[in-house]
Amino acid sequence: MDLQLGGKVALITGASKGIGLAAARAFAAEGAHVILSARGEEALEDAVQTLRRDAEGQIHGLAADVTRPADLDALTAFAHDHFGRVDVLVNNAGTGTYKPFLEVEDAELEYGMAINFFAQFRLSQRVVPMMIEAGGGAIVNVAGRTALQTANPPGSTCTGPAKAAELRFTADLADELRPHGIRVNCVVPGVVVTPDRFEKWERETDGSAYDEASALTRRQRIVARHGPWGSAEEVADTILYLASPRAIYVNGASLLVDGANKRSYTRLLREQGMN
Ligand SMILES: NC(=O)c1ccc[n+]([C@@H]2O[C@H](COP(=O)([O-])OP(=O)(O)OC[C@H]3O[C@@H](n4cnc5c(N)ncnc54)[C@H](OP(=O)(O)O)[C@@H]3O)[C@@H](O)[C@H]2O)c1
Repeated sequence: MDLQLGGKVALITGASKGIGLAAARAFAAEGAHVILSARGEEALEDAVQTLRRDAEGQIHGLAADVTRPADLDALTAFAHDHFGRVDVLVNNAGTGTYKPFLEVEDAELEYGMAINFFAQFRLSQRVVPMMIEAGGGAIVNVAGRTALQTANPPGSTCTGPAKAAELRFTADLADELRPHGIRVNCVVPGVVVTPDRFEKWERETDGSAYDEASALTRRQRIVARHGPWGSAEEVADTILYLASPRAIYVNGASLLVDGANKRSYTRLLREQGMN
């Protein structure tokens, strides 16, 4: 299927690793111009250089923290200066804090909203005027299954509502931008094996017993089994479809990408005898 993404300009946040990097690679493979963004310059530069090797389109990177409005201004200006437009915005950067309700600190509560919902809102607000001027575009927000169900244990009272806001935001924004030919959809991944995310969960789950070598061995066993665990590439393929004109009649949707497996990371570990 030709996704008709060749020559399009795609701006992706959280693109130096995990799902964002897989999406950047996939857009580049379709011949799109890609702007990758993340905070850490080294990983970002590595990603840009790797993608440039085989890309037909232009590949750029700009370091930006999505929780800082000034960085989002700079990212938008960068896209405008280089291309004069953004055809596809992938609001992917995000993270979760999983801990019991009474242990959530105020800073974690605020950061959860800032990196998830606020960042998607703020960057879309900056990019949409360019899309309106160009006569259309596509936004794909990346949420997470904690938007819909409890990640238990150890609890998602902090992250769940921040991710749930992204689903409502997607539906409302799609309705409002429809007259401008801009589609807005959301991908809702289940448990996806990405190195940074897994290290975070491994540390949270193992606590003081955490040992890097054992955690890595366990992760390799998880990847080998595949089964209930998703990959970044599988989520990226869904992002590409929703961003492409092939999904012209899909708008305001939040699509669950979890292999129909409703278990959290810790439950999956337990069920597979790995915990
Ligand atoms: N992996 C899963 O199982 C899973 C499940 C459900 C939902 N999700 C969602 O999918 C999205 C991607 O997750 P992932 O697992 O691929 O993440 P990841 O592997 O941890 O990668 C996160 C990416 O985002 C960047 N990033 C982190 N904080 C940032 C910030 N404040 N500003 C800008 N960039 C930032 C990271 O680079 P720097 O650290 O250098 O900035 C990195 O490029 C997130 O929204 C996540 O909530 C993931």
